[in-house]
Amino acid sequence: MPQYRALTGVIAAVAVLAAVDTFAQQEVTRDMLSKADYVIGRRAFQMRCSACHSLAEGGTDLTGPNLWGIVGAKADGSRRPEFNYSEALKAANATWTVDRLDRFLADPAKDVPGNRMAIPEGVPNPDRLALLSFMMLETGGADWPRPELPTVVVDKDRSKPLDVRFPSFWNHMMTNTVRYRMVTDDGELVFKAYFNTDGSVTSDNPKIRGFWRPDDRDFFCYALTGLPAKPDQFVECFPMIAMSIPRFAEQLWESKPVEGVKLFGGILPGRP
Ligand code: HEC
Repeated sequence: MPQYRALTGVIAAVAVLAAVDTFAQQEVTRDMLSKADYVIGRRAFQMRCSACHSLAEGGTDLTGPNLWGIVGAKADGSRRPEFNYSEALKAANATWTVDRLDRFLADPAKDVPGNRMAIPEGVPNPDRLALLSFMMLETGGADWPRPELPTVVVDKDRSKPLDVRFPSFWNHMMTNTVRYRMVTDDGELVFKAYFNTDGSVTSDNPKIRGFWRPDDRDFFCYALTGLPAKPDQFVECFPMIAMSIPRFAEQLWESKPVEGVKLFGGILPGRP
């Protein structure tokens, strides 16, 4: 049956093409986006983007611009006028529709030649769809609700070690870097702190030291001393659960540990 064989040959060839061409433009619908896997999208963002981009409203520009409000924005620099965009990106005069973002993230160098977003490779599917969906939710561009996240597992047995009781919190905070920006009437102080599994806190500033403990309400409390500022020390407590969602950004929370002091905290991936 030569005719039949010819036909299956064609079908096989099409299937191979589809499998190889992972960067082909997909048609992204709201239905696909709202059903995409949030956790996969978040992981893709953390691994591929968070070193250079923050998402939340009011977040700072890093190597790349903060992405709040990106969907529907113009790529001419008007969204973040203080960010130093490349001429190439501005000249592309794109509007960041979902499809346009999809195309850009599939292959930034090909999509906007000469742009300054240097990533080793485009984002392949299916991660790209999940990433887009996550990014839309976290930058105010989605009209569907954030999915219920699996609740943080806390083992209530206080006799067990902390890393067993709060696994996600432990992994995140104890292996990465906390970045602080402390603003007082006298100016601002930026430093990095490292929360260690032995309960100590060290810093990139050798004078700044501290310790952390969970208290009996399962609040995470820590103290820092030796700050080259006034006041030179403070104590803060947070509900442990609130801290255990692994996110990276230069600025994730803001607090007022002492009157007249504003403290901005963020978590950066890794530590020296
Ligand atoms: C190495 C740093 C770096 C990484 C990693 C990175 N970006 Fe970027 N990104 C940039 C820079 C720099 C620009 C500005 C490019 C220009 O001006 O040419 C940019 C621009 C963008 C823009 C356009 C912003 C605007 O205001 O028009 C989007 C959207 C974007 N990045 C998303 C992402 C996503 C999603 C990822 C992860 C897949 C990612 N970026 C990874 C550095 C990075």
